[in-house]
Amino acid sequence: MYRLIYKSKSLVDLDQETVKDILQHSQKRNQKDAISGALLATRSHFLQVLEGEFEAVNHAFIRIVTDPRHETIQLIHFGPIDKLLFEGWVMKGFGLFDLNLELEQRLKDKYGEEKGGIKFPIEEWSSLSLMHDIKVM
Ligand SMILES: Cc1cc2nc3c(=O)[nH]c(=O)nc-3n(C[C@H](O)[C@H](O)[C@H](O)COP(=O)(O)O)c2cc1C
Repeated sequence: MYRLIYKSKSLVDLDQETVKDILQHSQKRNQKDAISGALLATRSHFLQVLEGEFEAVNHAFIRIVTDPRHETIQLIHFGPIDKLLFEGWVMKGFGLFDLNLELEQRLKDKYGEEKGGIKFPIEEWSSLSLMHDIKVM
């Protein structure tokens, strides 16, 4: 099994509806391809983790990279894993738009800020730490 993590910049101002649209298609497709993972979104950026077989994850990433809805795609990590962290999630979405202020401030203090939202990291350990914080919140 392999895990891939990337960060990208959205070409439109993101809201729950836009993220929902992306997720609906992704979930159907990922189910077929046995890919699990999570997609985080602020108003300006995406952070996504994909887990599955090498070929499936690789092909999904190639499709995602050429999607005109985002740009400045930064590959953070792609490598073999012993254990799936997102097993059972066909692609769980988290739009970080309407968090309570205290929680948002805590995440900004820990990870920094970009474009008024929580800054998505570009290091593997930090991305997984943010995913973990959001998973348990
Ligand atoms: C931020 C973002 C995340 C995406 N995540 C996935 C994904 O996890 N799986 C997937 O199949 N497509 C994903 N997509 C959609 C792909 O970029 C592409 O539109 C889609 O796979 C094309 O599918 P089709 O060949 O069935 O039309 C994502 C798109 C964006 C903008």
